Amino acid sequence: MKHFLTLLDITPDEARHILKRAEKMKRKLREGKAFRPLEGKTLAMIFDKASTRTRVSFEVGMYQLGGHALFLHSATTQLGRGEPVEDSARVLSGMVDGVMIRTFAHDTIQRFAEYSSVPVINGLTDLTHPCQILTDVFTYEEQRGSIEGKTVAWVGDGNNMAHSWINGAVTFGYQLRIACPPGYCPDDKTLSAARALGADVTLTDDPLEAVANADLVTTDVWASMGQEDEQAERVKAFAGFCVDARTMSYAGPDALFMHCLPAHRGEEVSADVIDGAQSVVWTEAENRLHAQKGLLEFLMA
Ligand code: CP
Ligand code: NVA
Repeated sequence: MKHFLTLLDITPDEARHILKRAEKMKRKLREGKAFRPLEGKTLAMIFDKASTRTRVSFEVGMYQLGGHALFLHSATTQLGRGEPVEDSARVLSGMVDGVMIRTFAHDTIQRFAEYSSVPVINGLTDLTHPCQILTDVFTYEEQRGSIEGKTVAWVGDGNNMAHSWINGAVTFGYQLRIACPPGYCPDDKTLSAARALGADVTLTDDPLEAVANADLVTTDVWASMGQEDEQAERVKAFAGFCVDARTMSYAGPDALFMHCLPAHRGEEVSADVIDGAQSVVWTEAENRLHAQKGLLEFLMA
């Protein structure tokens, strides 16, 4: 039994296996062929934060795999009234076959996993968003072939997405260049742990330096969920960090643009880039379904 709290919980070979299976399942779905390895299985999905893509992709994914997903918002469960995470983990894992959690503190999901006897999947914490990077690598490779040795440029906040890109450099062997304004760099611990495992990650405060000749340019909101009060000060701090046509002109000629969504046009990305020819954000969003079906099969079948 395995949990998926960060990308480092699975080996590079396991990640490759998941993406291969995802590709196969995407193809089968397109051909209209049913594939139900999770018949009779259930996934509880606990949300402490809003979601569109994560909820829909896990719920539809479980249905397509022959199983069932339960949407639990913390506000309408006893978790929201203070029932300890450790107790909820033991109760839920007596009834369901897997649990996906989207929450604030990463420690919450770690405590849940410690007491859970079924696989726990991280659907985003303040620290990481590993399902999104599995998806983004899947999306890159679908369009351009292996990501190994390619250059990924992250422009913006050193947030949960940036941390998962850092972990992904260990798993998938791409070079990662991160551009953040001072004070908004990624977590030191995440960075040094990944570097110790061989990740090739460089930091700069110059977006154009990060993007130079990159194969993939990616960004995310400046104020993540839970940071709404910092929006105005972040807009000031991130001036010059909008991924626009000029930024993209420094990237390689075949560079793709990705964004986990939701996006703020005119802040972290200009409308002409996110809606332009290099952007693959809609395929990226759809691929949450396929990549996570690979993950669900791996963890729960
Ligand atoms: N990218 C992503 O996780 O989207 P949601 O917040 O809509 O789930
Ligand atoms: N960094 C964003 C990602 C949303 C999918 C957030 O945590 O709100």
